[in-house]
Amino acid sequence: MASILKQNLNTTKLNTGVNIPVIGLGTWKSTEEMDAYNSVKCALENGYRHIDTAAIYKNEIQVGKAINDFINESGVTRDKIFVTTKLWGTQHRDPTSALNQSLERLGLEYVDLYLIHWPVSLDTENIKGSDYLCIPFLPNGKVAVDIEEWNFVKTWELMQELVATGKTKAIGISNFSINNIKELLSSPSNKIIPAVNQIEVHPLLPQDDLIKFCEDNSIAIEAYSPLGGSDAPILNEKVIIDIAEKHNVTPAQVVISWHAQRGYVCLPKSVKKERIISNQKTFILPDEDFAAISNLSKEKGEKRIVSFDFSPFDIFA
Ligand code: A2P
Repeated sequence: MASILKQNLNTTKLNTGVNIPVIGLGTWKSTEEMDAYNSVKCALENGYRHIDTAAIYKNEIQVGKAINDFINESGVTRDKIFVTTKLWGTQHRDPTSALNQSLERLGLEYVDLYLIHWPVSLDTENIKGSDYLCIPFLPNGKVAVDIEEWNFVKTWELMQELVATGKTKAIGISNFSINNIKELLSSPSNKIIPAVNQIEVHPLLPQDDLIKFCEDNSIAIEAYSPLGGSDAPILNEKVIIDIAEKHNVTPAQVVISWHAQRGYVCLPKSVKKERIISNQKTFILPDEDFAAISNLSKEKGEKRIVSFDFSPFDIFA
């Protein structure tokens, strides 16, 4: 039986006019020994052209080395690979230095996209030791937020200066709610509409309203934790398994195809070669299967996996 799967090399256009591959490799938690290096190298060798990392993942050195080794060995040029990294909360007051440090670790002259990782600045005075790539805590155990004299509008003001330096081709946001985006877009200092909002999306958190709002405002969506995050819990859902068996594909391919069909960028993470390769192969879901997956959160209730208590800052309001 001929396979219905096709390697998904599709791209979508950002509001900058640049094309971004709709399937990228996620690298959050790819931190064991050579995990990040091997997974990024494997992805690039097998056709991926989009890699997503972040300063706080603490794997930029490995990710960058894999990209550079691949470029040197394959002859594929840097401009054919889309690389994203992210500004951590302790550096909201100085994105220029933070981006320079990320580029240094990556061994790259520029990234294609630089995102504000979370909309809340963190208080550097509560950092223990010298590593600012951390979550600082108050003595009472709460996350030390820096929101009295600072906010993401000020961070965005500084982010906008980065585009002219050529060190990032585009800027965007991550984990921004509709209210926070409205505040950002309506601020007098806003001159650049974020290219992307990278958010948690999967069948148990479809984010229909936020996706529509972003699309209406020319902000592309990127789905992180598209399989439900660590150990991919979505893949154990009966409806997903049944659809996978019916079409002779993997449960992950069912879920990634659902994302692709919804028309945004999807960033599945894996450190396993076979999964990395198979996760890039998608198919068109028949209407009834697409609808059954879309219905999952209505039947079972929505479930957010990635969340921090940044109170009094209300992240998802
Ligand atoms: P591993 O890295 O060992 O392959 P998400 O992208 O939603 O964050 O999901 C990541 C989780 O899903 C990781 O635990 C990853 O494990 C697992 N995973 C990724 N691809 C597959 C796949 N094709 N089948 C099963 N699990 C997968």
